[in-house]
Amino acid sequence: MGAGIAEVFARAGLRVIGVEADEAALSRGRGHLEGSTGRAVARGRMTAEEQAALLGRIAFTTSRDDLAGADLVVEAIPEVMEFKRGLFADLDRICKPSAVLATNTSSLSVTAIAATTSRPAQVIGMHFFNPAPVMRLVEVVRTVVTEDGLPDEIAGLARRLGKTPVTVGDRAGFVVNRLLLSYLNHACALLETGLASRDDIDAAMRLGVGLPMGPFTLLDLIGLDTSYEVCEVLFRESRERRHAPAPILRELVTAGLLGRKTGRGFHSHDRDAPETAGEPGGRPEISLVGLVGGGPDAATVLEALEAAGFKAAVAEPGDLTPVAEADVVVALSDTPVVELAVRLPRPERLVGLHLVGERVAEVAATVVTSREAAETVRDLVRMIGRTPVRCGDRAGFVVNALLYPYLNDAVRMLEAGYASAADIDAAMRLGCGYPAGPFEMLDAIGIERVRDGLRALYAEYREPSFAPAPLLDQLVTAGVPGIRAHVG
Ligand code: CAA
Repeated sequence: MGAGIAEVFARAGLRVIGVEADEAALSRGRGHLEGSTGRAVARGRMTAEEQAALLGRIAFTTSRDDLAGADLVVEAIPEVMEFKRGLFADLDRICKPSAVLATNTSSLSVTAIAATTSRPAQVIGMHFFNPAPVMRLVEVVRTVVTEDGLPDEIAGLARRLGKTPVTVGDRAGFVVNRLLLSYLNHACALLETGLASRDDIDAAMRLGVGLPMGPFTLLDLIGLDTSYEVCEVLFRESRERRHAPAPILRELVTAGLLGRKTGRGFHSHDRDAPETAGEPGGRPEISLVGLVGGGPDAATVLEALEAAGFKAAVAEPGDLTPVAEADVVVALSDTPVVELAVRLPRPERLVGLHLVGERVAEVAATVVTSREAAETVRDLVRMIGRTPVRCGDRAGFVVNALLYPYLNDAVRMLEAGYASAADIDAAMRLGCGYPAGPFEMLDAIGIERVRDGLRALYAEYREPSFAPAPLLDQLVTAGVPGIRAHVG
């Protein structure tokens, strides 16, 4: 990440001194810079001369003493407080008295880092997002002792770098990581419960919600060690079990599988590794498909099935008689379907189906669903042009189980007065490339639907943080149509 940050400054015409711990790390950093700017040249975004000039503005060294004349130092070393304290004590000694010392920490206390120096008023958080040259957000973190005017100055600098700053106070995870890592850790927990596979969860969130990456691909990009540490810090502050890093993160980190930077984490990032072959989707050998449920989704599925030449029988959840003889029964639902299955003469034939966005359908197999029925419905889903996401028959399936608690967390953050809805939305859009911020998503989905989904998740998992935030609940009870219009 240090290399990415160096690139951002050099792109803006500033001179940079890149310090690494040793020669090997230095040459890796140089390689990153050459690779990243080389890609920009290959894509016609930069000329070879501009690349040479950019690289010429960066000096590479392994000596911290070379920072004596710097006006600003941005630290981006591993997330271990002891390392940070040691480094800041050194920087305080080496750098000129007017220099500002910034930390790119993802979640550690900027105040605690500042306190190790003799200039705590000149220590600030300047938090970039991975990959730094691409992501447009910078969280500017001020502490209670930060000099007046410095946050604005750093925010101005961030703008000069082509970034959008959001200034926040010093709380674990700031805005983005507090919301993001809770969600990513939750994805790990769902994977561990066997609700769905790594690839199904990734596909659900990427194709279903429109996020640029699925949670496991993103964890690999961030680095599993960093992710682990951020969760640890969140847990230390909140003492909420869901922030405790998922055991699978510890296992992978202990095994040295840290994600992209080591070539393997949840995924393998070896360029030569063969792509896993997509599953073949044949035409299912069935004559009658039963469809349970009404509404626009049922109409969409019915139309697609009939267009593909299948005969379909339709039933309402109250009376399943019309579908009793179907070869497979598809129950359109965003809630568990096992109670429908057990009312059929052959419960093993029923499968839950939940359309998500335009490209994905969650295919929920109950504990009694047969393998054949689940496979048949997956084939049908492919035939109607969607990607099937296999999952267990549990509240929220995959997408809502991950998305709704994240939206709830954003409401809690707003409720706590930590940041405004507009800042939280901007932070998630620009920091993570999300198509919309959480409050925009809440309004698009409908606050009542989210509140009800959270209630169902709470009833199923009994996780206290899944209970709807009081503000959300009250806005629904008050009948306000949207959250943004109300909270400003
Ligand atoms: N360095 C520099 N540039 C990069 C890059 C990198 N590592 N990776 C991609 N790019 C550039 C590409 O060159 C390309 O540039 P142009 O459009 O100018 O040609 C652009 O980004 C898009 O890249 P691709 O077309 O190759 O790939 P993509 O469309 O799949 O985008 C992505 C890649 C930008 C990484 C996108 O997937 C994304 O936005 N992912 C989400 C990343 C995210 O959430 N980051 C935040 C993580 S949290 C964090 O970092 C904070 C923390 O403290 C833990």
